[in-house]
Amino acid sequence: MIVPYNYLPMQFSNHDAILADWEKLIQSTEFTLGSYVENFEKLFAEFIGSKHVIGTNTGTDALILALKAIGVGPGDEVISVPVTFYATIGAIVAAGAKPVFVDIDDRYQMDVNQIRGAITSKTKAILPVHWGGAAPDMPAIMGIANEHGLKVVEDACMAPGGRIFEKNSGTFGHANAWSMHPLKPLNVMGDGGMVSTDDDELANWMRIYRNHGMVDRDHNRIWGVNMRLQPLQAIVASHILKTVHVTVEERNKNAEILDEGLKALAPFVNVPPRPIGYWETYSLYMAKFHKRDELMKYLNELKIEAKIHYPVPLHLQEAARDLGYKEGDFLNSEIYCKEIMTLPAHQYISRDQLEYMLSSIANFYSTL
Ligand SMILES: Cc1ncc(COP(=O)(O)O)c(C=O)c1O
Repeated sequence: MIVPYNYLPMQFSNHDAILADWEKLIQSTEFTLGSYVENFEKLFAEFIGSKHVIGTNTGTDALILALKAIGVGPGDEVISVPVTFYATIGAIVAAGAKPVFVDIDDRYQMDVNQIRGAITSKTKAILPVHWGGAAPDMPAIMGIANEHGLKVVEDACMAPGGRIFEKNSGTFGHANAWSMHPLKPLNVMGDGGMVSTDDDELANWMRIYRNHGMVDRDHNRIWGVNMRLQPLQAIVASHILKTVHVTVEERNKNAEILDEGLKALAPFVNVPPRPIGYWETYSLYMAKFHKRDELMKYLNELKIEAKIHYPVPLHLQEAARDLGYKEGDFLNSEIYCKEIMTLPAHQYISRDQLEYMLSSIANFYSTL
């Protein structure tokens, strides 16, 4: 039995509605910004309960735009984590600032107990990541930020449809970044992203900056760049948005089955805690596994497409050489990278496929 990681062929097997809207777009020739982008921004703002949404061409640009909007620049430090996709930290560097790491906790999220110790006179902002689609302790992070007069940018790239009790992920920070990369819960046919904020001034600045700093065709208020969301992708996003709740619900059901099966395999498998009120998106379904590399090889041979996100923590990447970190600085992150594995748990995985994964993992450990 094949257990595929990639669900895109199934998700886009029927794309007639998207093609029909693309046809209208082609007739309108509204190819840069315009009504399709505005319509999606409005829909997503309603979906998460945010005052403003600004579409961008990637999640990476959304992070850079949000950081620049809150005033991050050269000489500033931004606190984040070594367990995330490269773009989180790359965006801090692209905004001209220095990334400062704190370790992760047992849920693979920013350890809030370490933030105060990382704050210096240069700290401008905190950049927590909703890693895998699980929320970090955002109320605690906002509390620390307020205490110290810091801004917060949430990396909510994996978090559309996630929430803490009734408050949606990506609505806690001052300006928050989202991605619509094809393997995110809200995805497009290529690249796309957005920033959400409740702050009118930040929203105005970001709308202008992402479009060359123009206020109209003949007037340029600030030096900006082109970070615009493509109307073609805004159309795809508007269609996919209609089913994100169902997608996330299905993933939660699959995760519950996997959690139960894997917990029975302790101490070989370590499933992260799932606190009450934290509704995850399972953009990545992850747990820690004893003999991870051997297990993954075994599963891949059985055509179970398990993956690693990711094997090297960011403080030990070559790109981080100038930051002055060394092995042993962030032990939880380092152990995570050695033991973590992602199992396919997306909305197209069947009960049989879940059982097959669980029995294959149990078989592997039964031979030890
Ligand atoms: C946590 C996180 N941050 C940032 C990004 C960057 O998003 P994009 O690929 O849309 O630039 C991604 C995904 O790729 C991500 O998973």
